[in-house]
Amino acid sequence: MSDVAYVICALDDIQSQRAQGFDLAVLDEAGEEKNFPIVVVRWGKQVFGYVNSCPHHGARLDWEREQFLDPTGLRLMCGKHGALFELGTGRCSAGPCKNDHLKPVELQVIDGDICITGVSLAEEEDEDEDEADASSVEA
Ligand code: FES
Repeated sequence: MSDVAYVICALDDIQSQRAQGFDLAVLDEAGEEKNFPIVVVRWGKQVFGYVNSCPHHGARLDWEREQFLDPTGLRLMCGKHGALFELGTGRCSAGPCKNDHLKPVELQVIDGDICITGVSLAEEEDEDEDEADASSVEA
């Protein structure tokens, strides 16, 4: 497990009660790069992160691009067959995978930035400095 916190974006880049997807890449134990799409939900000062993969058939939740929430805005929704997930726990409350869970991603807000921990991100070298920004944090 990595204890490095990687900045994903500023907290204010996501409006409260909205969700946004990020297509990250991580290094597995063998050092191979692997796609790691996640969805980040912001609720006031809280953030929740999940792997963007439905426990039903593994589809991206935003089957319709960047569409993560149900019409009430109170649950995450998989666009493929309509499974609904609690924002704070990732538990499926209705749909074909009822009571399964989205896989959580460890997020922290540090100095106004949303950071991911517990993974080793494969960093892109040509991106601008902000995206390559990483700092160590104490657990
Ligand atoms: S793949 Fe998500 S509900 Fe079927």
